[in-house]
Amino acid sequence: MKLVIAIIQPHRLDHVKQELYNVEVNLITVSEVLGHGRQKGITEVYRGAKETGNLLRKIRLEIAVNDSFLNKTVKAIIKGAKTGATGDGKIFVMDLQECIRIRTEETGSVAIG
Ligand SMILES: Nc1ncnc2c1ncn2[C@@H]1O[C@H](COP(=O)(O)OP(=O)(O)OP(=O)(O)O)[C@@H](O)[C@H]1O
Ligand SMILES: [Mg+2]
Repeated sequence: MKLVIAIIQPHRLDHVKQELYNVEVNLITVSEVLGHGRQKGITEVYRGAKETGNLLRKIRLEIAVNDSFLNKTVKAIIKGAKTGATGDGKIFVMDLQECIRIRTEETGSVAIG
């Protein structure tokens, strides 16, 4: 199992969600976060997205998937989020040790989806 964390531009969220649904990834956690990349928020500020200091508003997605879903999940995020401009975001992939559905106490690959 893998945990995919993606930081994307807020205005791409609907597109990313649709691309994820298209590959049957339907379980997702979404948070509003602040951050900056290697431009330290400076270039992007000029596009009118200024937030606290040089921190820009971003969306953080968390998606836990079985290994067989990793590739299509990453591709869907890229398809939905990519504009070609700086600040498009980043995807982090981590090994995921366990997943437990609280209601049923199912674990692992059954619980994850
Ligand atoms: N190495 C990192 N560690 C933690 N968060 C990061 C990292 N890189 C990017 N982020 C987060 O992702 C957001 C988007 O990053 P961004 O797309 O600007 O990356 P970048 O490396 O600057 O690439 P680009 O040159 O395309 O802008 C940042 O605002 C930050 O929240
Ligand atoms: Mg950047």
